[in-house]
Amino acid sequence: MRNVIVLGSQWGDEGKGKMVDLFSERFDIVARYQGGHNAGHTVFIGEKKFVLKLIPGGILRPGKQAVIGNGLVIDPAALLTEIDSLEAAGIPVAKALSISNRAHVLLPAHRMMEKMSEGRAGRVSIGTTSRGIGPCYEDKIARRGIRIADLLDRDSFRAQYATLMEEKTTIATALGIAEELDYNRIRDDYERFAERVRPMVRDTALLLNQAIADGKSVLFEGAQGTMLDIDHGTYPFVTSSSASAGGACTGTGVAPTRITGIIGVSKAYITRVGAGPFPTESLDGAGEQIRQRGKEFGAVTGRPRRCGWFDVPLLRYSAAINGFDSLVITKLDVLDEFDNIPVCVRYRIGQQEVTDMPPTVAGIAQLEAVYECLPGWKQSTFGMTSYEQLPAKAKDYLAFLESRTGVEAGCISTGPERNQTIVKPGSRFQSLMS
Ligand code: GDP
Ligand code: IMO
Ligand code: MG
Repeated sequence: MRNVIVLGSQWGDEGKGKMVDLFSERFDIVARYQGGHNAGHTVFIGEKKFVLKLIPGGILRPGKQAVIGNGLVIDPAALLTEIDSLEAAGIPVAKALSISNRAHVLLPAHRMMEKMSEGRAGRVSIGTTSRGIGPCYEDKIARRGIRIADLLDRDSFRAQYATLMEEKTTIATALGIAEELDYNRIRDDYERFAERVRPMVRDTALLLNQAIADGKSVLFEGAQGTMLDIDHGTYPFVTSSSASAGGACTGTGVAPTRITGIIGVSKAYITRVGAGPFPTESLDGAGEQIRQRGKEFGAVTGRPRRCGWFDVPLLRYSAAINGFDSLVITKLDVLDEFDNIPVCVRYRIGQQEVTDMPPTVAGIAQLEAVYECLPGWKQSTFGMTSYEQLPAKAKDYLAFLESRTGVEAGCISTGPERNQTIVKPGSRFQSLMS
């Protein structure tokens, strides 16, 4: 049995897309478990660039199955656009993709509600991706959401849609939202979308459990990252789903007893998009250097990502929440030119050492990061494929991260392409994947 969860250990954009695409070679099925088209997972295959939003990474490999689990919120228009553009590039998506009948349907009214909450005086602006993700999950938790199974049943959809839109109109009017939505046209559009997705819709929990019983292997793909998790992240500056490892089970219907490994993807430094606390943010030239070298601009919104140094206490927190067996350290090459590389080894407030992650934004904002500076290796690691090739100081940097976080760095990424990857010989990672 080999069923492994791969997820982001920081604030998203760790390079999950590249890694899931690479690892999917060794699995039969790749299943996404949460989020929506707020995700942007970049995969390079030679010169060709793909940015996957709702569709799991394995889709780019012939013969692999891909599953969109019940934990996602799906904008059918975004999904169909993504399917069409992949099919135009020669990827047979419809044949390989299964969509959960229990996933929730995201509607234009959700985007309207998000615009309201993000722009409203007195409300905290999260700096969301403006895709309507939060309001869709709100409806799910409030038990008034529309699921894919409902979308496929025209009478039930019409009734639920009418009630939900009546509520949205009432709220929009009360709050003075000017945006006018043509609810009937949208309903007709969604009824057309339903017919296109219908052949791909299944009970994906049954499908996955049957596949596992038949000896097939599943790779669970997370979106966003642990610090954006609705429960464990830097609330309220989080996304609205369970990005951490537990979400893989609730978001697919596969039991924790079936999971054989959990891998955290982490950059060799750290980035964040949107608002919220960020103890190791570098606001000087070094942050800008990371942004330029790492091309740190959002894959979905194009926003410049905030950049900073590797944060050991954050990673230790993330490792505890997720129970990581191994880390993938990505974008090592981005640090190639630095003379010195600061790593945050602990936090303090005034003279007092802080060992636990504070639960509030105000608490996190008070943290002062304490750094140890490691010498840079000052030579290119770009595209390296074996551990032996790495400069001694790069190995020292990785060993430092391992010893301080308490988790091995079993896999190292040295460039955006599949083959620009190192697997550490003898690592737990290697045995989890074989
Ligand atoms: P995801 O959301 O976690 O899938 O990450 P994104 O795709 O949003 O952002 C990661 C970016 O880094 C993408 O542009 C990748 O092509 C790129 N990338 C991934 N791994 C590496 C690496 O090891 N080195 C470099 N230079 N780029 C990488
Ligand atoms: P991937 O899967 C980085 C951030 C947004 C915002 C917050 C809430 O590519 O790593 P939302 O639209 O989800 O309600 O926004 O979460 N965010 C991400 N940041 N990578 C992502 O996805 C993200 N998805 C959402 O910037 O701060
Ligand atoms: Mg991304």
